[in-house]
Amino acid sequence: MKIKNICCIGAGYVGGPTMAVIAAKCPEVNVTVVDLNAARIDAWNDADLSKLPVYEPGLDKIVEEARGRNLFFSTQVEEAISKAEMIFISVNTPTKTYGSGKGQAADLKYIELCARQIAAVSTTNKIVVEKSTLPVRTAEAIKSILDNTGNGVQFQVLSNPEFLAEGTAVADLLQPDRVLIGGEQTPEGKIAIQALVDVYASWVPAEKILTTNLWSSELSKLTANAFLAQRVSSINSISELCEKTGANVSEVARAIGMDSRIGPKFLSASVGFGGSCFQKDILNLVYIARSYGLAEVADYWEQVILMNDHQKNRFAKKIVRELYNTISGKKIIFLGWAFKKDTNDTRESAAIYVANLLLQEQAELAIYDPQVSEKQIKSDLTLYTDLDADVIANRVHVYKNTDNLFEAAHAIAVLTEWDEFKTYDWATIYKQVTKPAFVFDGRNILSKHELIEFGFKYFAIGS
Ligand code: NAD
Ligand code: UDX
Repeated sequence: MKIKNICCIGAGYVGGPTMAVIAAKCPEVNVTVVDLNAARIDAWNDADLSKLPVYEPGLDKIVEEARGRNLFFSTQVEEAISKAEMIFISVNTPTKTYGSGKGQAADLKYIELCARQIAAVSTTNKIVVEKSTLPVRTAEAIKSILDNTGNGVQFQVLSNPEFLAEGTAVADLLQPDRVLIGGEQTPEGKIAIQALVDVYASWVPAEKILTTNLWSSELSKLTANAFLAQRVSSINSISELCEKTGANVSEVARAIGMDSRIGPKFLSASVGFGGSCFQKDILNLVYIARSYGLAEVADYWEQVILMNDHQKNRFAKKIVRELYNTISGKKIIFLGWAFKKDTNDTRESAAIYVANLLLQEQAELAIYDPQVSEKQIKSDLTLYTDLDADVIANRVHVYKNTDNLFEAAHAIAVLTEWDEFKTYDWATIYKQVTKPAFVFDGRNILSKHELIEFGFKYFAIGS
């Protein structure tokens, strides 16, 4: 079965880049990405490619190549569903904020809405692809909604989790480590799996396309994120021990990473992991384990989150302690707000957590991030902390560039590992700040040796 029309519901960080790459690599397939958020769709259609709603290196070129040819962004959800043979669901699946499972379970209301909308609109057979990250066995619920339309339309549900990381989304999509496709092991299920395999086979080598049953595919996504986050929490736990013992966490990471069984990636100690996926997906895994009565499994994975909270907390506390236990009225600079470099995404960024703690101590924050706006920073603080509105309005100062940023600052904290921070003239910065001058490098990106030579008191993570 050859797919000619794809619809993707959800034009976010996953739906947009993923569909742009499919369209670029499969010019014979029409790809329509739909979203309820009209402003987001307008931004995807903006003639000025710097206004795309997602900042990802290389994405503008891919969108420019395919948009208007076989890649379309639209708010006409029903029309796109009705035309497509294959529908990707790529809507958000945040942690539930109400009811049972509050604070842990995935909120599947958007997924269910999509399934109901597909069921209501479809008059021809469809393959429905779960692109969103979902709890294991969600396909069962989707299928149950789709199969009860009573109009004779046949649906196949596939799981095709997305493994891209933000900041490298385009490269990850063009050259994925693997593509995972789960489906029912029936003749119809296998035809659906093959149809999706054929889409990816336009650019992904056959040996990198894995097919499994539905539940393995759904569970693999949560497991992959749990393992990755666990590596970060593991190295972060060792970073604290390094600070006590004189060991250096970068040296330890290098030494263990050269063991081919361990490998060198995801061993950078930091102020703590952020992003929309790690915490949400582990909490979800914990919730699922508990719901099956697997208390030890749940506790084991929960520890990854607890260690991450501890790491963010101790970074903030260290700033307070080193600044003579009082930061009231002191100007503290945040270099970076995004949860990692090369993205404008701030969801679950460690910066939000650290800012909250420092503002509670009455600090004055001066924040600069090359891709994050003042509006976004203030909205993060409003939505995700209990700080009073006047604290956010009066004590948080967001800079569009580094002009006057460093003037009379009491401390500089690096929250995101943007490359440009490494290129700053730190000798001149030293002259501008209040003495003694403190740098807290939450990403270990600056040269300790150089900064100390310029006169800074320099604190890294794990050394
Ligand atoms: P996002 O919030 O950026 O985008 C989701 C979009 O879906 C929003 O624009 C929203 O308006 C839209 N939407 C919600 N319900 C809708 C409906 N009924 N009809 C039309 N549009 C609707 O989310 P995201 O970061 O793209 O994540 C999407 C999914 O992919 C999540 O399950 C996430 O866990 C998973 N995922 C994310 C990443 C990542 O790096 N962000 C990576 C892998 C997997
Ligand atoms: C993650 C997964 O990597 C990706 O496969 C999945 O599809 C979505 O979730 P993402 O959250 O976009 O991707 O970025 P990632 O590179 O995994 O970083 C997550 C967080 O961990 C960031 O805050 C990053 O700074 C931090 N991190 C990562 C570290 O602190 N140290 C490391 O060694 C690696």
